[in-house]
Amino acid sequence: MARHSDTFVCQSCGAVYGKWAGRCEACGEWNTIQQEASEAGPPGSLAGAAGGSVKTKGKKIEFTALSGSTEEAPRLLTGNNEFDRACGGGLVPGSALLIGGDPGVGKSTLLLQVASGLAKTGANIAYISGEEATAQIRLRAKRLGVEKTSVHLASATSLRDILATLKAERPDAVIIDSIQTLWSDTLPAAPGTVTQVRACAQELVRFAKSSGCIVLLVGHVTKDGQIAGPRVVEHMVDAVLYFESEQGRDFRILRAVKNRFGAAHEIGVFEMSTDGLREVANPSELFLTGGDAAVSGAAVFAGIEGTRPVLVEIQALVSPSSLASPRRAVVGWDGARLSMLLAVLDARAGLDFGRNDVFLNVAGGLRIAEPAADLAAAAALCSSLFDSPLPRDRVVFGEVALSGAVRPVNQTEARLKEAKKLGFSGALAPTGAQSGTLRVSEAETLADLVKWARNP
Ligand code: TYD
Ligand code: MG
Repeated sequence: MARHSDTFVCQSCGAVYGKWAGRCEACGEWNTIQQEASEAGPPGSLAGAAGGSVKTKGKKIEFTALSGSTEEAPRLLTGNNEFDRACGGGLVPGSALLIGGDPGVGKSTLLLQVASGLAKTGANIAYISGEEATAQIRLRAKRLGVEKTSVHLASATSLRDILATLKAERPDAVIIDSIQTLWSDTLPAAPGTVTQVRACAQELVRFAKSSGCIVLLVGHVTKDGQIAGPRVVEHMVDAVLYFESEQGRDFRILRAVKNRFGAAHEIGVFEMSTDGLREVANPSELFLTGGDAAVSGAAVFAGIEGTRPVLVEIQALVSPSSLASPRRAVVGWDGARLSMLLAVLDARAGLDFGRNDVFLNVAGGLRIAEPAADLAAAAALCSSLFDSPLPRDRVVFGEVALSGAVRPVNQTEARLKEAKKLGFSGALAPTGAQSGTLRVSEAETLADLVKWARNP
């Protein structure tokens, strides 16, 4: 096998360079380029397999039609509703998933619970840890109360051994905790480097596709907030789920950022307790602060996370500033979006936030990315500016255009239904939002919002 001299690989995006550089030109990260011994080509490539001088002809591929009868294998349900939901309704046989998250967020805990849930349904489940000894995992299982389930436990890091075992044991699903600890002896690079992570993930994904075994890979996020070799692994797997927590809070969100077999942006909500992760079936309760006393600056946003409606309180504080350039701070929302909204409120509704500090907070630690939150944020801002509380039994949603118009948003029906379910009696929504049961005040432009906030 022809071996080139060492190459330099970006540990963040996997870009390969001939010489070292301080900054990766592909992804813009600093200090991520490391020297790695490598083969002539990626593992399994033509160059890698035959030293770059391939003479043999390829085999002709047979095409088939789009239509045809492919038996859809039933999805494997873990019995953990929040996990199943985040995966798009259970695990698809032969699929590979990546579950990423900060150290200590609870990935191993979650997957051990998922493994025992699957084992309870009679499936053959393997849990291979490269980080912890089996004794440690047994202790955790005991703490979680799942030590009686028939999960096949092992502690190993050699990819060759793991694949040989899996081929012999043929489990329905295997959990690898974590992908960064595996190493393939065909590569000279150290475990945890992009080359190793990529090669091991690729082999395991190939195994999943060829055997029908479900492969769940745990990926650690590095200190600077990235899974080592995140992009290379994300492309290979069928679904990428991030397990997130807000500092100092007990709840955890499992968020699908990619899913070939279901809706992306689907979330599962959990709460970390002394005996493991508990499912939170109704997350709106977490994100609504409750309390009957109406205070100014709070609006309830009827949002959608994936396919699930979630109500969350948006809080704003507008106070006179002593600074030459007043402060703008935002938690749980996009800062640029706040600046835009303030500019539109200024230009289209004549509200002057210019001499005020503005703080915006999404209650409960949720992070909102939907444009539909514009109107709710605007409502909270107006309410704080006027020091006039909004009615606590109304939800607000709608996208605000630069012209000051309020645009309709998707899934209006689902938002209103959830509001009704949680005891809200009305909504401020874009024109056209109809509901048989809720009183909907329609907002066509920001002027309607301002009128409503002044005199709700
Ligand atoms: P762990 O699953 O080991 O995290 P990861 O695999 O993502 O690194 O979880 C570790 C944290 O979870 C640790 O701080 C203790 C806490 N924990 C509980 O609060 N309750 C429990 O029942 C368990 C098992 C862990
Ligand atoms: Mg762990």
